[in-house]
Amino acid sequence: MFKSFVSKFFTLYAALTLLTFICLTSFITYVINGYFISDKSDKLIESGRIINEMYLLEDINSSYFRTAINSMSRAYGSRIWIVTNNGTILMDSESNKLSGITFDTQRPNIQKAIEGHHVTFTGNFYGLFRERMITVIVPIRYNNETMGLIFLHAYYPSITNATNPFFRVTLISLLFSLVVSIMLMYLFSRRITKIFQQMNKTAKSIANGNFESRIMIHSNDEFGELATNLNYMAAELGKLEEMRRGFIANISHDFRSPLTSIKGFVQAILDGTIPPENQDKYLNIVLNESNRLTSLTNDILLLAKLENNGITINRTSFDIHNLIREVIIQFEQKIIDKKMEITILIDEKAVFVDADRQKIQRVLYNMIDNAVKFCGKGDRLTIETTKYKEKINISIKDTGPGIKEEDIKYIFNRFHKADRSRGKDKKGTGLGLSIVKEIINAHGETINVNSQLNKGTEFVFTLTLDKGNKMYR
Ligand SMILES: Nc1ncnc2c1ncn2[C@@H]1O[C@H](COP(=O)(O)OP(=O)(O)O)[C@@H](O)[C@H]1O
Ligand SMILES: [Mg+2]
Repeated sequence: MFKSFVSKFFTLYAALTLLTFICLTSFITYVINGYFISDKSDKLIESGRIINEMYLLEDINSSYFRTAINSMSRAYGSRIWIVTNNGTILMDSESNKLSGITFDTQRPNIQKAIEGHHVTFTGNFYGLFRERMITVIVPIRYNNETMGLIFLHAYYPSITNATNPFFRVTLISLLFSLVVSIMLMYLFSRRITKIFQQMNKTAKSIANGNFESRIMIHSNDEFGELATNLNYMAAELGKLEEMRRGFIANISHDFRSPLTSIKGFVQAILDGTIPPENQDKYLNIVLNESNRLTSLTNDILLLAKLENNGITINRTSFDIHNLIREVIIQFEQKIIDKKMEITILIDEKAVFVDADRQKIQRVLYNMIDNAVKFCGKGDRLTIETTKYKEKINISIKDTGPGIKEEDIKYIFNRFHKADRSRGKDKKGTGLGLSIVKEIINAHGETINVNSQLNKGTEFVFTLTLDKGNKMYR
């Protein structure tokens, strides 16, 4: 029973409610008791006063006095004694049973009465009665002197008795609220248990790779929020998993096709299908394919290292304009083949920046590669630099197909390729922009993208000018 948090919580709650119930009942009993006792004692004192007056007017042995005492005793439900200061009972309302008996008056309560005070106390009157009584002593006063004592004994008002309506109503309403509150708590606990069970089940299912599992809780409280977050997490994990699978499929494909052609050509050379005079041509293809594999492997390794902060940025001062030209030259043939147009808006003058030349080369290469790859005939590629304060902005802009708005936030993610069918771009691995982003981040610089579907794309990144080379600016 104590295994789950909810049952612990419920047990604690029930125990606390029960404790409150017990405390409240005791307190209320105590208060009501006090009220009944003081009420009873007031009444007894009142009747004592009347007897006091009668005593002073009437002869104690007269039948009138006796009758009056008897009716008073019945009316107030009390036993009345008239006692001398020495403790001799002169009259007992209960058929004079104890008349003539003397008891010890040295007790503090009795002494106090002899001194002239009203005294109220409870108990069995020093062992005389079998039950608990409330006893009131009223001194008979005349000329400032105590002439005797009036004792009034009544049964102790028993309020914890179930017949007492006061007590009954209180107890029943308390019991009712106790039961209702425990029942409500029980229902609430059951609901929470169900929520936890569902979350647990879903979390396990997600852990087992079922990323479509969702928690069906739509409340507006913290549970609803937790469910929404868990569902969001499952969706993100699902996307990641889909990306991973896509990546493995792409990678396998990217490795298999060059390997197939390498294997085919090498076999053909070995078994003489390709005559020695043609071998150079095919060996060159083999070399190109091997280079492609190497660069793919390097990309994967580089990205892994960049992501683990395992790569240091070797900052040097170099001319960024020169580097841009160098990279563009590598794409010259492709740009001509695709009948694209190119505009280069960079200064003739050298502009020195403080960065890792090799890695920035990679950044430029990956971005221009994308532009050239995704653009078609007649599209324009524009490369522009602008200095701003201690920075230089480098913009690579094309009039190509653009990127869908919902895709823009993913393009820097590993393995993300908008064109999943890989129809347009068989070589892409979806790693290019991730590498770009990691390199720019490692430099502490920023990169932004603006793109509109069917209009074109612009990437802008910053580099820091080299202050030591002011003369070239
Ligand atoms: N210049 C561009 N024009 C249109 N889409 C682009 C451009 N650059 C990047 N993208 C989109 O971003 C995706 C990720 O680019 P990248 O990381 O370089 O991977 P890959 O080039 O291997 O596809 C591309 O698949 C493409 O959908
Ligand atoms: Mg690319």
